[in-house]
Amino acid sequence: MNILIIGGGGREHAIARNVYNSPNHPNVFCAPGNAGTATLGANVDTKANDIAGLVEFAKRKDIELTIVGPEQPLADGIVDAFTEAGLRIFGPTRKAARLEADKAYAKQLMTEARIPTATSRTFTRVDHAREYLATRDEAQVVKAAGLAAGKGVVVCDDPADALLAAERMLVDGEFGDAGRAIIVEEKLLGQEISIHAITDGSAVHILESSQDHKRALDNDQGPNTGGMGAYSPFTPNLRGKSVADFYTRVENEILLPTLDTLRRHDIEYKGVIYLGLMVTAGGPQVLEYNCRFGDPETQVLFARLKTDFVDIAEACIDGRLDEITIEYDPRPAVCVVMASGGYPGAFEINKPISGIAEAEADDNVVVYHAGTTMHGDRLVTSGGRVLGVTALGTDIATATRGAYDAVGRINFDGAHFRTDIARSAL
Ligand code: AMP
Ligand code: GLY
Repeated sequence: MNILIIGGGGREHAIARNVYNSPNHPNVFCAPGNAGTATLGANVDTKANDIAGLVEFAKRKDIELTIVGPEQPLADGIVDAFTEAGLRIFGPTRKAARLEADKAYAKQLMTEARIPTATSRTFTRVDHAREYLATRDEAQVVKAAGLAAGKGVVVCDDPADALLAAERMLVDGEFGDAGRAIIVEEKLLGQEISIHAITDGSAVHILESSQDHKRALDNDQGPNTGGMGAYSPFTPNLRGKSVADFYTRVENEILLPTLDTLRRHDIEYKGVIYLGLMVTAGGPQVLEYNCRFGDPETQVLFARLKTDFVDIAEACIDGRLDEITIEYDPRPAVCVVMASGGYPGAFEINKPISGIAEAEADDNVVVYHAGTTMHGDRLVTSGGRVLGVTALGTDIATATRGAYDAVGRINFDGAHFRTDIARSAL
């Protein structure tokens, strides 16, 4: 069986490892992949956004299943294009992916479905945003409505800063087209949790919980990044309520109404739906929807996932997800991202990387590649997030120690990582 994975980050390396270990022994192709995925199969020199090129490749190579990692090709309609070409692909259609690609649409849908989320306004004109912000004296969050690689959100404790952020997006075009419309919403207080669910349009499977660390620096300081580390599972402070009650609320107040409302708009959602939630005193509220797996959350989820993801993806495409049982390693996992110095701002690449084999000498450690490539026989950095150093352990403390011991064995010039991943769980 030939399987194509689209994307080239740590998330895709984690998916590729699971697929590579499938009992069906598939041939794994990754477009464009990284130095990690190259060890599991063949990297394909086609960009994740080149939908026509990917369709052509999948036909030529008799690809029987395609799994999409990143949001951009989903938002651009890769699932529609593959399906029209008679190819099997795991992920939501362009219309369904709008839940992530257009935050103004997502907010509208949440209002229609009465889904708990921060009160918000959408603006395309800066004078309207200015008038509105003049009436606010509490903290505000300003978001580019379109896709901005996880960097289009500014949390402003002072509404004056919110106006500056709004001006940068609407006037200076900081995020290009993605910032032509902005959302201004109240800042919610609580603990953040990442909830991933898989749905075939009717059945919904909520996966194990995880928590991401989005800020670049320790103690949640510095700019937002794509994610500097993650751990799984994560149980928020539920103020005396049970975990079961929490998941029932997530399913009944958020997931099912989302899918029902989409269906009322003639949109069937298939694939991964990822909820970024704030667990507030009043219960879970939606910060954002994503139409794909999180990165680096996937690294900790897939380090624990025991079920063959090929089976899950096939069942999802065929609408028989209710037949699947999903099993995990009960041990927690912690992933520490090693990034290039300067990320998420400017950074240098082509730095030689050493120590991965030494780090993986510990059976509980797996080093997922993200921004890596081979220069001849030398492994070098090629992106902002370079590696997702992931460890399993009997408890979070042990897994955290395992991950940081492994990080200590790996070297590249300018390597930057947070030293407090999973600390809040201890
Ligand atoms: P998003 O891309 O919408 O998830 O936003 C990125 C990050 O900004 C989130 O992970 C939160 O840390 C923060 N954030 C977004 N919206 C809010 C909000 N309404 N209140 C507080 N923090 C938020
Ligand atoms: N880790 C956050 C995301 O993938 O959106």
